[in-house]
Amino acid sequence: MPRGIRTDLHGRGHYYFLGTPLQHQPNEIYLLDNFFRLYKFAKIVEIGTNRGGLSVLFGLHSWMNNGWTWTFDIHNKVGMPTKWLLKNLPVKVMIGDVFERLECEFIKERLNSVGRTLLYCDGGDKDKEFNLFAPYLKIDDIIMAHDRGTKEIPYDNIKDTVQKYNLVPIFEKEIKKLECRIFMFRKSK
Ligand SMILES: C[S@@+](CC[C@H](N)C(=O)[O-])C[C@H]1O[C@@H](n2cnc3c(N)ncnc32)[C@H](O)[C@@H]1O
Repeated sequence: MPRGIRTDLHGRGHYYFLGTPLQHQPNEIYLLDNFFRLYKFAKIVEIGTNRGGLSVLFGLHSWMNNGWTWTFDIHNKVGMPTKWLLKNLPVKVMIGDVFERLECEFIKERLNSVGRTLLYCDGGDKDKEFNLFAPYLKIDDIIMAHDRGTKEIPYDNIKDTVQKYNLVPIFEKEIKKLECRIFMFRKSK
């Protein structure tokens, strides 16, 4: 249970969205929510569910757009009330390692099939996730990765993929202004 209202807005701990815990700062939640006003998705794939608060945000946007969200984690760490919320949203919680064959094929298939897709890389190896799945994006799909600006995902580690697959950075000005730790790219022709 939270002991008080969090005020360390740029700390690295857990925050809350609709009472569900997540590892995204309020400025990042705000940015993503605004982003969804402008971009609609048939499918959202999140790598790294953790305690599921961000999956709730994704699930709400999927619900509003008749879409689906799939969220992957090697461990099931989703507690109440998040579990209940996710059950009532178009969200499938997938327990598995995204680098294993079945999970990997499942994600590639989501990216390959019809309908704009968002891939959110926030698992244990973000640059590897980014480099592995970016080649399967369709034109106008979006790929994001969390923890930008940290050693978890140095730009140098994804630079070649960005160039090779025509990934165009979006909302750079807003990301910088809001001090968000998120990479956002749109797959271009
Ligand atoms: C940084 S947390 C995700 C935070 C979450 N998106 C949020 O905002 O609350 C990373 C999660 O990725 C999971 N993870 C690590 N390696 C993974 C893998 N190979 N496949 C799936 N999940 C993985 C970890 O168990 C952990 O819960």
